[in-house]
Amino acid sequence: MSQPILLFKKGDLEAGKVRKVDVNGCALAVYNLDGTFYATQDGCSHATASLSEGEIVDDECIACPVHDGTFHIPTGQPMSFPCEHAIRTYKVIEEGEDVLVDLDQESDAAADAI
Ligand code: FES
Repeated sequence: MSQPILLFKKGDLEAGKVRKVDVNGCALAVYNLDGTFYATQDGCSHATASLSEGEIVDDECIACPVHDGTFHIPTGQPMSFPCEHAIRTYKVIEEGEDVLVDLDQESDAAADAI
């Protein structure tokens, strides 16, 4: 079982924003959705776009900056054309002011959706 890895402090990412974080060679898009943090792979599953350069829409989806397809951030599920394949999610842990990620576990929402 892996150790959670520190991403940043809660105050480092405003609500409604997304940013890219490289962790152990893995590019993540990390989101603050109204004070709750989520992480997914940064690469879009449709082509080679960086989701962290996209825009959060409908409160909990990310719109890809290249073809405007969308994914549900908590579960990683594709929501609109041309996205067909889910993106990987990662479990985010909040400890006090710290935001950490466990690269070996998917998000609780994605795990519950199985
Ligand atoms: Fe993301 Fe096409 S590269 S929707």
